Amino acid sequence: MSTESDERCEARREIEKLRDEIARHNYHYYVRNDPQISDAEYDRMLRRLEELESHHPDLVTPDSPTMRVSGEVEETFDPVEHSPPMLSLRAIYEEDEVRDFDRSCREILQVDRVDYVAEPKFDGLAVSLIYEDRRLVRAATRGDGHTGEDVTANVRTIRSLPLRLPHDAPRELVVRGEVYMLTEDFQRLNEQRELQGERTFANPRNAAAGSLRQLDSSVTAERPLQIILYSIAHAPGVQIERQQDIIQHLLPELRLPSPADQARLCTSADAIIEYHRELMDVRVELPYEIDGIVVKVDRLAWQQQMGTRTRDPRWAAAFKFPARGETTRVREIEVQVGRTGRLTPVAHLDPVQISGATVRRASLHNQSEIDKKDIRVGDRVLVERAGDVIPYVVRVIKEERTGEERRFRIPDSCPVCGSEAIWSDDEKSVSCPNLSCPAQLKERIRHFASRAGMDIEGIGERTADQLVEKGLAEDLADIYFLQKDDWLRLDKVGEKSAENLMRAAEESMDVPLQRFLVALGIPLVGEHVADLLARRYESLQGIMEAEEQSLLAVDGIGPGVARSIAAFFSSSGNCRVIRRLLDAGVHPRADSGDEGDRLQDVTLVFTGRLQRWTREEAAELARAQGARVTSDVSASTDYLVAGAGAGGKMQRAESMGVEVIDEERFAEMLQG
Ligand code: IVH
Repeated sequence: MSTESDERCEARREIEKLRDEIARHNYHYYVRNDPQISDAEYDRMLRRLEELESHHPDLVTPDSPTMRVSGEVEETFDPVEHSPPMLSLRAIYEEDEVRDFDRSCREILQVDRVDYVAEPKFDGLAVSLIYEDRRLVRAATRGDGHTGEDVTANVRTIRSLPLRLPHDAPRELVVRGEVYMLTEDFQRLNEQRELQGERTFANPRNAAAGSLRQLDSSVTAERPLQIILYSIAHAPGVQIERQQDIIQHLLPELRLPSPADQARLCTSADAIIEYHRELMDVRVELPYEIDGIVVKVDRLAWQQQMGTRTRDPRWAAAFKFPARGETTRVREIEVQVGRTGRLTPVAHLDPVQISGATVRRASLHNQSEIDKKDIRVGDRVLVERAGDVIPYVVRVIKEERTGEERRFRIPDSCPVCGSEAIWSDDEKSVSCPNLSCPAQLKERIRHFASRAGMDIEGIGERTADQLVEKGLAEDLADIYFLQKDDWLRLDKVGEKSAENLMRAAEESMDVPLQRFLVALGIPLVGEHVADLLARRYESLQGIMEAEEQSLLAVDGIGPGVARSIAAFFSSSGNCRVIRRLLDAGVHPRADSGDEGDRLQDVTLVFTGRLQRWTREEAAELARAQGARVTSDVSASTDYLVAGAGAGGKMQRAESMGVEVIDEERFAEMLQG
């Protein structure tokens, strides 16, 4: 044997060991909340693994912890057949129905007593996972119970789910459970989406479903998904007698998250009812949403004996919680101006108790929502709390209308500064475009200074708030006119920080045009549209003078966006602020100078983790040089740029004879 293959053999052994270790530590960290090593040690292991994999790309396998995000974008979800089918559950609501259920179980089984396992009914979406030879090979949604959708790439991004099981795991294993989102994570996600002008999710369940059904798994990877498993559908050779054993022993031993701490063995209908009551009481304090409990006959042999009806098993039932909603009256609808300039209609309600809190207001989100639900002032409405927290109007109780109710329309001007409001085409967003609207100034400054905008280090939320509160900034341009003494008036700002802030402001002045446009916070203009504008007009002046018609002719800009841009720059107040910014020395430059054709007509695919850039950044650089960047290797691919952890695409490239190059080589090509 040559030394080279010795080294390879050694690497393979170390890689295997690291992957097992990392899988074990993931379980302690994500599932048990009881890390066994420090973050630094964990990072070291991960880095070592990445290093080995980058030297031996052929040893990279999909179950490596470095491969959580595949980087491939799918076009559709492939169908997956479920075997056995994924059943649903009959729903029951009353205590008497629990007693009936228990009685019928005892009758069918001809026994005096049946033990049940009661578990929370997690409000997420059901998934089925297949492990073969300890590796996660497939994950699918429930679909119609017989055929689901292949969401393997997305499920793999869930950190608490092991991609490989311990050595003593069964060779074949099908487990089932629920993908869900923590209430807190759901709220944070929605806040973030609101700020970015994206549609918010109605509840954690929808957020989880929307996140799991993403064709681009790198999007899913950014979403805080959780998973919990509660049943084993297939595990040949494994001796198990009870549901209890599955959730208390088998799943935890396989390091799969299970409801071991939440489930309870109930030996009577009364015990089930008691568990249901207890969970209903603590429901609002749980970090996730549940909509009832699931009761299952504990003995698997008895489950088998009882069998299933067409769609649901005889041995289980979902004992649901009553709807948490209450009815109340809409007293008035007020329009609030959010920190981002969005006009949001808010219903003022007769105070009502829901899930332990007094609810007085509910956001109605936008005009389209008001119209869709036909909500009028004076209406009696059913109100629930999304994620058991945020109140929302479910529907109007139309039978109780008296004819006195008043239709509502969001006004065409900002209620705070009076500027003409900008409506999006779908009526889902109305914004005040005034750069100096007092309701928005703090947030506008924060956004202006953020990394996506002018990137002024040191001006975050707290600084922005103080600049406005202390009267130091009345518009964005004031930031550049502040003297050292002004900065020193801010809390916790001493000589040194004041100097740093001034320098950061100074350094931010030379800014790419695209980022300057983002910094302005023009309604409906994000990074992408800003980029289109910068490329098409090449100067701020050009954009400011562009007519709506001309804007509309830009590929990728629709009527609502064109109208918004034209309205923004037609405001004399906004133009004054922009003029002051330019007077202060802000210099937005069109970046076309860097455009080149060094990669003209070259087709590239990126895979794996690069050192210097994210794949998106690298793709952007390549495009700037005229390259075509695609998501997958095909006959027309010229080069595959492979970073650490490259896997399937690399093999495909090699088998198709496509040249594989590393990051260094790519960097050289960019330089020409
Ligand atoms: S057992 C045959 N256990 O409820 C048994 N389901 O209405 C099938 N669910 O599709 C499921 N928590 O998505 C079971 N602890 C739990 C559950 C649970 C939530 C969901 C699951 C299923 C639906 C049935």
